[in-house]
Amino acid sequence: MKTLLETERLIIREIELTDVDDFYEMDSDPEVHKYIDQMPITSKEEMVKVIEMLQKQYAENGIARWAVLDKNTGEMLGWCGLKFFREPLNGLVNVYEHGYRFKQKHWGKGYATESSKAIIDWGFKNLKVDTFYAMTHPENENSMHILRKIGFEFKGFFDLKYGDFEIEKCTWFELEKTNFKS
Ligand SMILES: CC(C)(COP(=O)(O)OP(=O)(O)OC[C@H]1O[C@@H](n2cnc3c(N)ncnc32)[C@H](O)[C@@H]1OP(=O)(O)O)[C@@H](O)C(=O)NCCC(=O)NCCS
Repeated sequence: MKTLLETERLIIREIELTDVDDFYEMDSDPEVHKYIDQMPITSKEEMVKVIEMLQKQYAENGIARWAVLDKNTGEMLGWCGLKFFREPLNGLVNVYEHGYRFKQKHWGKGYATESSKAIIDWGFKNLKVDTFYAMTHPENENSMHILRKIGFEFKGFFDLKYGDFEIEKCTWFELEKTNFKS
């Protein structure tokens, strides 16, 4: 297991096939999918395909969402991190979009914020960009709250159509390196 980052409470590493049970616990929960406009996962086979897709992204782009684990228990709590978009996203190409998803039982503990700060800090030091992007469902207040805490600025709305995702009036956020609150 290759650890990429460590924070006070968390270990951050690439997602592996052995994470399938934890991943399934998270992604089969309808509440987790409330603002993602995607049906919850209904089988572990489907979950394995998602992990394989992420592993393809690691190989092709050197980065994708990363697993976030509790340092004390070793439990995979969720995922967080930067996805590279070669295809147009709100009119932009070759951009990194930041996102996160955690098991419902671990919301409200600050894990999304703690892992986001560590990954964005790593990103600005290791990826040759000065801006990261993020998007949310317009009613996903918890997600927008995290973005604002880190320094992301709301820039407007756009209609997202990407694979299974289709969200009207999706929010668009940008984080300039100089605005990052680590
Ligand atoms: C979006 C999502 C990750 C937000 O989770 P969250 O628990 O609200 O966010 P955090 O993990 O950063 O926790 C924040 C809160 O934890 C609390 N907290 C408890 N202990 C803490 C600690 N040690 N450090 C920091 N915050 C702590 C704080 O009250 C904080 O809220 P505040 O900033 O208003 O004070 C979660 O709702 C989720 O997984 N949703 C489903 C997937 C999804 O919608 N993803 C986003 C798509 S755009």
